[in-house]
Amino acid sequence: MEADLVIRRARLLTLAPLKEERPRVGAAAGDVGAIDGGWLASRDGVIVATGRGEGWRELDRTPDAVEVDAEGRVVMPGFVDAHTHLCYAGQRWDEFVTRRSGADYLAVLERGGGIHATVRATREASDDELLALLRRRLGRAMALGTTTIEVKSGYGLEPAEELRQLRVIATAAKDSPIDVAVTYLALHALPAARADDRRGLLRDVVRAVRTVADEGLAEAVDAFVEKGVFETEEVRPVAKAAHDAGLGLTVHADQLNDVGATAFAARMKARSADHVANASAEGLRALARAAIPAVLLPGSAFFVGYAPPDARRFLAAEVPIAIATDHNPGTSPLEGMPTAIALGVVLCGLTPHEAIVAATINAAHALGRGGRTGALVKGRRADVAVLDSDDERELAYRLGGPLVHDVYAAGRRVGA
Ligand code: NIG
Ligand code: FE
Repeated sequence: MEADLVIRRARLLTLAPLKEERPRVGAAAGDVGAIDGGWLASRDGVIVATGRGEGWRELDRTPDAVEVDAEGRVVMPGFVDAHTHLCYAGQRWDEFVTRRSGADYLAVLERGGGIHATVRATREASDDELLALLRRRLGRAMALGTTTIEVKSGYGLEPAEELRQLRVIATAAKDSPIDVAVTYLALHALPAARADDRRGLLRDVVRAVRTVADEGLAEAVDAFVEKGVFETEEVRPVAKAAHDAGLGLTVHADQLNDVGATAFAARMKARSADHVANASAEGLRALARAAIPAVLLPGSAFFVGYAPPDARRFLAAEVPIAIATDHNPGTSPLEGMPTAIALGVVLCGLTPHEAIVAATINAAHALGRGGRTGALVKGRRADVAVLDSDDERELAYRLGGPLVHDVYAAGRRVGA
């Protein structure tokens, strides 16, 4: 097999599975599969071989093969950002400042601000404006090492406007060099115009889920299950519609209050349960039993100022952990996975290696891509981040520094 990309003289983090490929828990939760003096070769965007030492010299190459001497740098799987709200217009600086001086996130939402403020700005933006904003944000995520990213809708609320936003995301996804997993965030807040028509909205959302599936506009459906927002029983028919239509399910679960959403997500066979800062022990047991990843989002705990999820609780319960940016204009304006990793270590109590597992292979599982990306193993997509460091623990340490030296998505150089 001829290689068209060879990266050699690397500290290679393979994230190779110990036995079979599944979300990592136990000893595997902190095993990055490091090979010093490692190399990797790919062809047409797929990894064809990895090794240690000088074996790369024996490889056949295509005439235009790209050769990279990593000079001892860390070469690892590109990051998988499994939870973002990248499609929005407008900013919420005023709200950020009021919240820093004590205003409560849910109280702001209740008064028609918060998510509703972004809904107004996003509805007013044209398709072209939204597309330009989204493309710029995807480009910045990529430059920071992300090669797979989930993008949610959710700032339309009314199904017709959600569908418009999903079409904009689909357009951006089509020509994006990195892999975009699209999610229909179907229940994010009750639109003001539906104050007296909750049931009507829920009915319309169920219908929209079928349209989304028919038109192939998203892979999964999401809902914000929270005190005063949506209840598990309201979400159940929507989750069932998603399941019947062959879409995945993911849940904003127990972010600010324990409302039993984590156990609900497990019962509904969700792909992941996200936030989970206030998940009960029962919720954790349910996730562990079903091997469903908990996606920790330390950025929102940091910016909103609530107690972050305690990763040690999840690890002790053998729940697979992923981490993501949750990039959005309200709770988590942070950009890039290196900062999410640092916050996962400093705020949630992950070790640097556990945070790397959580930001790569376990996050790939959270997006149903566990066999495709997140590890530098033969047969996986050649999604690679080259760090400006010979020690991956710097990701959790050199906060805010330019840590990403180069990025390859499906074997093609795209950054940094
Ligand atoms: O993941 N809390 C619900 N949804 C988002 C925030 C949305 C917003 O405030 O605009 C989150 O935190
Ligand atoms: Fe979110």
